[in-house]
Amino acid sequence: MITAVTYNDGVVTLLDQRKLPGDSVFLKLTTVEEIKAAILSLSVRGAPAIGIAAAYGLVLWAQSNRKEQDLNVFKQSLITEANGLKATRPTAVNLAWAVDRLLRVSDTAASVDGAVETLTQEAQKIDEEDLLICKTIGEHGLTLLKDGDTLLTHCNAGGIATAGYGTALAPFYLARERNMTLHAYATETRPVGQGARLTVWELEQLGIDVTLITDSMAAHTLQSGRIQAVIVGADRIAANGDTANKIGTLSLAVAAKAFGVPFYVAAPLSTIDVHTATGADIPIEERAAEEVTHVHGRIITTETVRVYNPAFDVTPHQYIDGIITEKGVIRGDYQTNLSALFHPAASH
Ligand code: MRU
Repeated sequence: MITAVTYNDGVVTLLDQRKLPGDSVFLKLTTVEEIKAAILSLSVRGAPAIGIAAAYGLVLWAQSNRKEQDLNVFKQSLITEANGLKATRPTAVNLAWAVDRLLRVSDTAASVDGAVETLTQEAQKIDEEDLLICKTIGEHGLTLLKDGDTLLTHCNAGGIATAGYGTALAPFYLARERNMTLHAYATETRPVGQGARLTVWELEQLGIDVTLITDSMAAHTLQSGRIQAVIVGADRIAANGDTANKIGTLSLAVAAKAFGVPFYVAAPLSTIDVHTATGADIPIEERAAEEVTHVHGRIITTETVRVYNPAFDVTPHQYIDGIITEKGVIRGDYQTNLSALFHPAASH
């Protein structure tokens, strides 16, 4: 399994996902500024992987500032760095979740050295936990599927978007471990091509039978009866179950409902934002016009056209047949059932 983000002794190693599938290039980063640039440029992408990279980014900053004598000054500057990291990509809540988790543990530190140590341990814990969480998501996902099923997926919610296994792609990893056969259809995922470049590559590495379609072929493919379920990841799930994910997810959900194909979202609890009431409250990242106007550096439209480039859309919860988490498959009244994941006692 290829690991997208690893940390060792003051160096964060990132698989440069902009270069895939042609080249597997690993970047060695040693400063928080380099981490921010890697997140902004999509060298590292996918909600959980961004969270892990940001956590290690904060660790890099803390380690290079351990000479600071004044603990309060250190903690204040840490908050400033954390805010800078959070601002890089506003939709994927895992980023803020991971950074806030680090801020909470550092708050209790009694010395700068203690804070650096605690931050490093907590970032590694987030990373290790995510791997196990994704594997468990895969287990729960498999309960919804049969041997021989064909799944349609969008963007890349695979191992390289997480610590390993992925979310939407986790059932494929688990199926392979169990000699169960699953087939995949991957959408190209314009404008950045995460489906064509990353999901196809990842599934081929895994030995999964995968078919590529353009985004515009999705409704027809769902209508054709060759897809048994749609499974996608998430960047932020609001308290009522409305789900932000890569632009194009909403069209898939609407088409899946129209043609009676089950539509599942796979995500860890760290993607569920109970403080965001509905999808209307989720900030949607807009990215540079060049992502739409250019392909491989070449312009494909006029120089003058106005461009709208939202990176994510929000699927209303009514279109989602189940949210596959590490705690099981959540269905029905998402408001109540998602909240119960965080406050188990309150549900009885
Ligand atoms: O812009 P990206 O490539 O970071 O968008 C990624 C997605 O939308 C994924 O589906 C989501 O982050 C889940 S990754 C397990």
